[in-house]
Amino acid sequence: MHPSPSGGGVLRIGDLESDGRVVLGPMSGFTSAAYREFMKPFGVAFSISEMTSDSAIVHGTERTSGYVRFGSCPYTGLQLFGHDPGTLAKAAETALRDNPNIDFFDVNMSCPVEKVVRSGSGSALMSDPRRCGDIVRAVRSAVDVPVTVKIRLGTTMEALNFRDVIEETVAAGADAVSLHTRTAKERYAGSPHHMMAEGLQDEMSVPLIISGNIYTLDDAVSAMEVTGAEGIMVARGGVGDPFLVTQIDRYLRTGERLPDPTVSQQIDWCLELMDMVFREKGDEVGLRKMRCFAPRFIVGCRGCREYRRRLAAEPKGRDEMTALLEEIRERKGDEVIRANGAWRNDDRDSFCCQ
Ligand SMILES: Cc1cc2nc3c(=O)[nH]c(=O)nc-3n(C[C@H](O)[C@H](O)[C@H](O)COP(=O)(O)O)c2cc1C
Repeated sequence: MHPSPSGGGVLRIGDLESDGRVVLGPMSGFTSAAYREFMKPFGVAFSISEMTSDSAIVHGTERTSGYVRFGSCPYTGLQLFGHDPGTLAKAAETALRDNPNIDFFDVNMSCPVEKVVRSGSGSALMSDPRRCGDIVRAVRSAVDVPVTVKIRLGTTMEALNFRDVIEETVAAGADAVSLHTRTAKERYAGSPHHMMAEGLQDEMSVPLIISGNIYTLDDAVSAMEVTGAEGIMVARGGVGDPFLVTQIDRYLRTGERLPDPTVSQQIDWCLELMDMVFREKGDEVGLRKMRCFAPRFIVGCRGCREYRRRLAAEPKGRDEMTALLEEIRERKGDEVIRANGAWRNDDRDSFCCQ
């Protein structure tokens, strides 16, 4: 299926049928319940939580219970990381018992972070496709909601085994596969390699959701065209540019290309997000988060760099952040933003919002 209007706006993951094909990618430090709820009205069909440790869920760690906060926002998956099929299955069972709002589980087989990989979790799992299958089978039999996996091309360019991992996990019952077309060694930098997954959807019996540098509508169209993917994952590109989701969603339904928003619209959305983040995180953490989020809304207009610097450094509270945003609106409000991949070269580390 190609990303033409005729491809329509429906993505099916197991028995979940969504209105739309844009998936909000999991990002630790970002995709909290508040962020997911904020993004939903822009046209997100499925969203995935920050990754959550299986053993932390099994042991009921308090910090983790925050991650497992699910609102009423359909369809949302809890992403688990771990390496033992039994513990992952137990975690899924426990989480679903505590949070009946969880619509599906996603298993992280893609995280390249040293601490995660060292424990045999995340992208380390890709070295053992059988284990990947065992994990899906175990989680599948523990819960009666769909199970998806998120993978990379492989651990290194010398070990590009995504096809093996897809075969094992789909045979074990995975209901969809998200593929970030970089290797674990490449982390988040450089261009992704969508061409390596050319036509991959045609080889698969479940939806492929493609991920990697989706910063513009054209990025999305090209990634879907090359791979045939039924779903498209927006991650970094949506932070500060939520309307990107709307632009992709609308194009997939109708072929229409919506114009970029104005600075004033961006500020409205930023204030809305600030409300939700402060409500969720409280004043101190909320401010820290917003000093990271807010500058990303102000991009591509003349003289915006200085406003970004100020938004990241100056506000000492919500009122000051609001006042600065209103000052920007007064001076720049009518300008149209051109996000246009401004953050394309950010590595994960410079992107962090902890
Ligand atoms: C700050 C940050 C945190 C991330 N956290 C997760 C995570 O918890 N689980 C996961 O599967 N992927 C995670 N990712 C990967 C994204 O979901 C996505 O696959 C990746 O960023 C590639 O897409 P992009 O280039 O369009 O951002 C993270 C990425 C970033 C930048």
